[in-house]
Amino acid sequence: MARKYHICVKLAAQLLIPSATWALTDPFDVREATIDSVHNALFTRITTCRQVVSSFIARIETYNPVINAIISLNPTALSTADRLDARLASGNVTGALFCIPVLLKDNFDTADIPTTAGCLALADNRPLHDAPTVAALRDAGAIILGKANLHELALEGISVSSLGGQTVNPYDLTRTPGGSSGGSGAALAANFAVLSTGTDTVNSLRSPASANSLFSVRPTRGLLSRAGVIPVSYTQDSVGALARTVKDLAVALTVMARVGYDAADNTTAAVPTEVRGVDYSAALYGSSLRGLRLGLVGGFFNHTASAETSPVNEAMALGIRHLRSAGATLVNITDAIYNTTALAALDVQTFEYRSLLTAYLSSRPAPPNSFADIYTSGNFLVLPSGYPYITKSTVSSTAAPAYLPALHAIRSLTQSLQTTFATHALDALIYPEQKNLVVKLGSPSQSGRNGILAALTGSPVVTVPIGFTAASGEAPSGVPMGMEILGRPWSEGVLLNIARHVGELMLVRRMPPFANGTVESREYGTVPVIRPDVRNIPKQYPVGIL
Ligand SMILES: *[C@@H]1O[C@H](CO)[C@@H](O)[C@H](O)[C@H]1NC(C)=O
Ligand SMILES: *[C@@H]1O[C@H](CO)[C@@H](O)[C@H](O)[C@H]1NC(C)=O
Ligand SMILES: *[C@@H]1O[C@H](CO)[C@@H](O)[C@H](O)[C@H]1NC(C)=O
Ligand SMILES: *[C@@H]1O[C@H](CO)[C@@H](O)[C@H](O)[C@H]1NC(C)=O
Ligand SMILES: *[C@@H]1O[C@H](CO)[C@@H](O)[C@H](O)[C@H]1NC(C)=O
Ligand SMILES: *[C@@H]1O[C@H](CO)[C@@H](O)[C@H](O)[C@H]1NC(C)=O
Repeated sequence: MARKYHICVKLAAQLLIPSATWALTDPFDVREATIDSVHNALFTRITTCRQVVSSFIARIETYNPVINAIISLNPTALSTADRLDARLASGNVTGALFCIPVLLKDNFDTADIPTTAGCLALADNRPLHDAPTVAALRDAGAIILGKANLHELALEGISVSSLGGQTVNPYDLTRTPGGSSGGSGAALAANFAVLSTGTDTVNSLRSPASANSLFSVRPTRGLLSRAGVIPVSYTQDSVGALARTVKDLAVALTVMARVGYDAADNTTAAVPTEVRGVDYSAALYGSSLRGLRLGLVGGFFNHTASAETSPVNEAMALGIRHLRSAGATLVNITDAIYNTTALAALDVQTFEYRSLLTAYLSSRPAPPNSFADIYTSGNFLVLPSGYPYITKSTVSSTAAPAYLPALHAIRSLTQSLQTTFATHALDALIYPEQKNLVVKLGSPSQSGRNGILAALTGSPVVTVPIGFTAASGEAPSGVPMGMEILGRPWSEGVLLNIARHVGELMLVRRMPPFANGTVESREYGTVPVIRPDVRNIPKQYPVGIL
């Protein structure tokens, strides 16, 4: 019945619009689509997989020129959709992500699209294999729709790159989308896909979630294999996902965690037996906030009143009132160690980056094959004053005298964090992802972020939308803000459960106004080519001078 109706609409549209590029109203509205809503529409024959993919491509064609979040589309996306439609027709539907369009941060290896990390020097980097987490997504039926922009090589939080240009925040076109997974965040907020992936060395999955009214998970170190992802830091790197709903986030995590132990990333050996093969979507149901003990990290706030800090403090205060009224107990955590300035001194990225990047590149069939190949090429982004991060990485290594003391201090911090959980009998720590709003375009740094604690200790964090600032001319529905929920190792299920309750209590998420309209469906012969806009790279970031 539904299928017949669909065919009728199509025929009518063909008859009424005698143009080569005729359009019709999509029978299924992909705005705020979830895994369940796509599946319901497919299984009741309201739409087809090709139609779902075409609708997202049409949105990208329409809205991406405003936010510049996409580096490339996958030329095989429509043929994959056709294969899934054939399976649908024959009743062979398997996989939790059957026909779910996913955008990958462009530092995840894909065999069918270049993996550039937004760096001109890597424009032709064509990995032979998918990263294991990408293969797991495809095995579950996901359609890799394309690659999202990032801060170049995932090294900072502004989301500007020499190959991808500057990605813009969809809620306030004068601000960054956070980062480094900023393209993944901006694209998902603007409804360019159902899910996206990201990586996080200090803040990079959480800052884009916060700045784009999304949920994200940075899992416990070891839960997800980092193999086949362009690396920054052995100690701090994590891969994860972003979603518009907690449920979709839980499914993405479940699928990516199926990789399990991976000899190519020895941190995956740490996963306890009882965590292997867990279905995180099952953890969402039942339980409540009543009786939970949540530690509020006082040192992760900026109480100096200003237009950039006060909205964050007000949103957190409202969130805390909601949590209390739902029966949670809030405990003030005032230990001096929870000081992001002091914790930043323990960051070990620049000791680890050079050798890890070279290890990743050395197996490639063609140059660049090393850190030096990239950073002497001139084909990357630098600050006018040089690039201190790269200068430091060029001269330091894990053999540097300061490295082992830093690792020792990280171990001590991890012990202190466990002690905080134990002494206050906590279920999780909460704090704003940023002490202030996500910064304006052209700012030299993404200041005020609180991601360092989880990055150093390898703790899991689920980030949830906590509010919007008041609407203004620049932000017609306000600037989004997010809260981190940090847990003990392997407590992803608990954190996702808390996130679901918070999400239902507060109902914060909304679409970016500029992209909240419907887009007419289009018929594509082939997947269109999207070219990133590199014209608007801020003057502070000239390309290619070492
Ligand atoms: C269903 O599709 C999968 C994936 O393409 C394939 O491996 C499998 O053989 C198919 N099963 C049947 C019964 O056709
Ligand atoms: C784990 O892997 C890292 C990076 O590949 C390597 O440097 C380290 O030696 C490995 N550790 C052990 C104990 O095998
Ligand atoms: C706190 O916020 C104020 C006002 O925005 C700002 O001037 C100050 O630098 C911030 N302090 C820290 C430590 O970030
Ligand atoms: C916790 O800190 C807040 C302000 O940060 C304060 O208003 C509240 O009284 C403190 N609660 C306790 C029990 O100390
Ligand atoms: C946080 O640490 C920095 C650097 O160690 C220090 O200057 C600052 O006073 C500390 N802040 C607080 C509130 O203790
Ligand atoms: C789109 O955004 C505008 C401005 O915030 C708002 O008035 C309108 O209701 C939104 N439409 C939808 C469908 O969300």
